[in-house]
Amino acid sequence: MSARVLNGTLVAEVIRQGVAARVGELAARGIRPGLAVVLVGENPASRVYVGSKVRTCEALGLYSEKIELPVETTTEQLLGLVVELNERDDIDGILIQLPLPPQIETRRILEAIDPAKDVDGFHAVNVGRLVRGEEGLVPCTPAGVIEMLDHYGIDIAGANAVVIGRSDIVGKPMALLLLHRHATVTICHSRTRDLAAEVSRADIVIAAIGRAAMVTGEFIREGAVVVDVGMNRATTAEEVRRIFGDAEQAARLEEVARRGYTLVGDVEPRTVGEKAAWLSPVPGGVGPLTIAMLMKNTLRAAEARR
Ligand code: GUN
Repeated sequence: MSARVLNGTLVAEVIRQGVAARVGELAARGIRPGLAVVLVGENPASRVYVGSKVRTCEALGLYSEKIELPVETTTEQLLGLVVELNERDDIDGILIQLPLPPQIETRRILEAIDPAKDVDGFHAVNVGRLVRGEEGLVPCTPAGVIEMLDHYGIDIAGANAVVIGRSDIVGKPMALLLLHRHATVTICHSRTRDLAAEVSRADIVIAAIGRAAMVTGEFIREGAVVVDVGMNRATTAEEVRRIFGDAEQAARLEEVARRGYTLVGDVEPRTVGEKAAWLSPVPGGVGPLTIAMLMKNTLRAAEARR
């Protein structure tokens, strides 16, 4: 069997169209949702993400403001900016791009954001609401995974769902969202005694560990749904040949030669694709959904606030 593709690029486009339509309705009432994106320092990956977030806002008719601060910015300075953004009526969403430089106390910054403008869903108030199953702003990546499963009509209620990874950004909120949709949820992590045994019982597998191609076909039950949240880089021809099947190798090797790397998920597509019923690719799976959901969260924040 060869897995069917969970096409995140397509689902993200559907989400963006829905957001653009509602932004148009708000515009008729004189309201334009606004997102502030804050980048501290020079992390090249962060710079790419921030650019992409701002461009997507522009494409959908949202107002956006990119604020760039030097790498030596202090916690107090960044807190000052957050307070300013909290008070501005034209800003509905505040996104502080992570990771922040080491001298900045990340938790204090995230807790200073007005929960009503916390479009990342990282504030303790929004985390608390998520735990309780109350309305609130939910982290973009796990919320996007749920949208993708729904788009393809995959049943969550009653399913055995295994989330691999326990991060605050993906693993924990992912597990809670699946639980609220009535899945039986297991969270696995680096200290899980028998990962293969846990994953082999799963109807739905969410891989969010951050290790290239760690989940192989041997872990996967025949017919499972596998969502790959990983974003890793493969840099050697040897790695590429191990991870990708014949059909994909040539293009991937060419990419490594050209750019020095190719993007690899936490799932080994060659072997998992033979067992799973559905698999999200990397790139083109969960990645595009994250920014689409950020737009949706900004819209929701605007609708709730104004
Ligand atoms: N860095 C990597 N992922 C994220 C995210 O979802 N939100 C923010 N703010 N920073 C990130």
